[in-house]
Amino acid sequence: MRSLISIGDLSRADAEELLRIASVLKKELNEALAAGRRPKAHLDGKSLAMIFEKPSLRTRCSFEIGMFQLGGHAVSLQAAEIGRLGQRESIRDLARNLSRWVQIIQARVFSHAGVLELAREASVPVINGLSDFEHPTQIIADYLTILEARGSLDGLRLAWIGDSNNVAQSLMVMSSLFETKFTLAIPEGYDPPQEIWAVCEKANPKARDLISIVRSPKEAVKDADVLYTDTWVSMGQEEETEKRRKAFAGFQINDALLACAPSHAFVLHDMPAHRGEEITDSILDGDRCRAYEQAENRMHAIKAIMCWCLGAKV
Ligand code: NVA
Repeated sequence: MRSLISIGDLSRADAEELLRIASVLKKELNEALAAGRRPKAHLDGKSLAMIFEKPSLRTRCSFEIGMFQLGGHAVSLQAAEIGRLGQRESIRDLARNLSRWVQIIQARVFSHAGVLELAREASVPVINGLSDFEHPTQIIADYLTILEARGSLDGLRLAWIGDSNNVAQSLMVMSSLFETKFTLAIPEGYDPPQEIWAVCEKANPKARDLISIVRSPKEAVKDADVLYTDTWVSMGQEEETEKRRKAFAGFQINDALLACAPSHAFVLHDMPAHRGEEITDSILDGDRCRAYEQAENRMHAIKAIMCWCLGAKV
């Protein structure tokens, strides 16, 4: 039984195995859909509880539809029903109750400490479906998308434009595992916290040579294979919206910035996108953007993570 709370929980071999399982499940699903039959029920009869303290589109659909395709069942628990983590009842009791009914739990939470406590107290695997510190299921889908586009993850150069948020932080750890050259263009005052550097250095002692922070988006993209951005205002930071809009103006992926990248480079965005803020319509709707492939791959990646956590042979 394994949980996935941080990309730092994975070895490189684990991450490669997740990518392999995701590719197999994607192929199996497409073949089954084309033949008009049900895909293989790798998690037949299993139940999943999904806890959402924050809104969700891609994560919710990926877990719920994914679990159905794998032969299992999912139940969604919103904060409106069960309260914020630890408020209506202790996280310990929530974890112990859910563990009596389901075989696996996913939680999208405000506080990373909350999802860590849930994993400690549950007797079934727990998957972090986004916290204020990391977004690990996203990053497995991102690397699957990059692998499909490039055919290999070797020698990858990745550029991040914007806020050093949960997505950026999980990417820092993944790039440490895969020796990706990762350059983040971040305005002063928004650099990643020391805690994530510690996770990166544990994943790979050379992390600080692989990852660099710059202030100029142009510098970050000049030799990148992949450009990546995300919202300037993550869920839970809404009261900082005006301040952040000012700080991040200029940290946008647009045609002028993409023109500074190599001609083979493509763009990722984990979505929801804020058109006209961190990314323009022309990029998101253009043919060098792979954000919708990335969104599709969330489901294949999440199915792979559930199978891996539960030890299903794929
Ligand atoms: N950084 C964003 C990711 C949304 C999927 C947030 O936390 O709101």
